[in-house]
Amino acid sequence: MIESALLVGGAGFLGSHVARRLVGRGLHVTVATRRRERAKHLILLPTVDVVEADVFDAAALARLCVGQDAVVNLIGVLKGGNGQPYGDGFARAHVDLAGRVARAAWLAGIPTLAHVSALKAAADAPSGYLRSKAAGETAVRTAFPEATIFRPSVVFGDGDSFLTMFARLLKYAPIVPLASPDARFQPVWVGNVADAVVEALVRPESAGRTFELCGPREYSLRELVEFTGRVTGRRRLVVGLPPALSWAQAAMLEAVGGPMTRDNLRSMSVPNVCETGCALPFELAAAALEDVASSYLARPSR
Ligand SMILES: NC(=O)c1ccc[n+]([C@@H]2O[C@H](COP(=O)([O-])OP(=O)(O)OC[C@H]3O[C@@H](n4cnc5c(N)ncnc54)[C@H](OP(=O)(O)O)[C@@H]3O)[C@@H](O)[C@H]2O)c1
Repeated sequence: MIESALLVGGAGFLGSHVARRLVGRGLHVTVATRRRERAKHLILLPTVDVVEADVFDAAALARLCVGQDAVVNLIGVLKGGNGQPYGDGFARAHVDLAGRVARAAWLAGIPTLAHVSALKAAADAPSGYLRSKAAGETAVRTAFPEATIFRPSVVFGDGDSFLTMFARLLKYAPIVPLASPDARFQPVWVGNVADAVVEALVRPESAGRTFELCGPREYSLRELVEFTGRVTGRRRLVVGLPPALSWAQAAMLEAVGGPMTRDNLRSMSVPNVCETGCALPFELAAAALEDVASSYLARPSR
């Protein structure tokens, strides 16, 4: 039985859900963040320590690992710059840091490591994001062969940035010009992803395995935007952009620091769906988007 866990990148969307579940099981949870302010929603939880740390600093990372029974790496970025095989931001967050966390856990003798990668990560994937996630998996496996790796499709739930971003966009835009409208996704509920991570920490049979995580149904990007419009009462005309205009929109948004980059568009050229259909380990029951999303998307603040 484990009694403690270190969550690296634990102040983010998924990490916060994992932290709450671990606290619910009575574990002592250390959340490492670059800014304590980011984790203020976790500070009041009874058995959580929020620690501001630079996890690139080997000594700081080693200190965080002392006395932990498990480590979960939840660090990820959607914008990491351009370059071959991936931009510098992706190299740092997805590859370098993933290897550092895995090595630190191994050197500290921690028996259990869970690492969150991404569905369709591959060395020959079309985007730097997906190529760097694949390189990160390799770095983790090299340093800590028994790590459990998770590859979720896009994750939805309270605090997500995906559907919530559409909800905000629909609030102000009378018409939505949508890049890559036919891109495929199989969204998975954050509660299911967090449960899978927590189960992996307590089930020895998950050591060394890689799990894809997908929800019950596939959707096109257009369907997801239209669904968000129905749930929020903001039905708008969604105009799908052809490839050249999708590219131009992504380039423009990338240049102004908007919510999309050309690399994101490249990621969307691969169907983000599980080959085996709905995929969840540990007998978890997949929650449907339709049953969960209205509870948080319909809030007036969205
Ligand atoms: N959300 C999705 O739809 C989705 C889908 C597939 C895979 N994933 C993967 O799941 C994991 C968690 O995602 P999330 O949605 O919870 O992301 P998130 O809310 O953005 O949280 C990511 C965390 O990464 C940390 N981080 C980012 N860049 C960093 C850097 N350069 N140095 C140190 N820390 C850094 C942040 O820590 P601070 O607290 O220090 O800011 C943040 O807490 C990521 O690996 C992501 O790639 C997510």
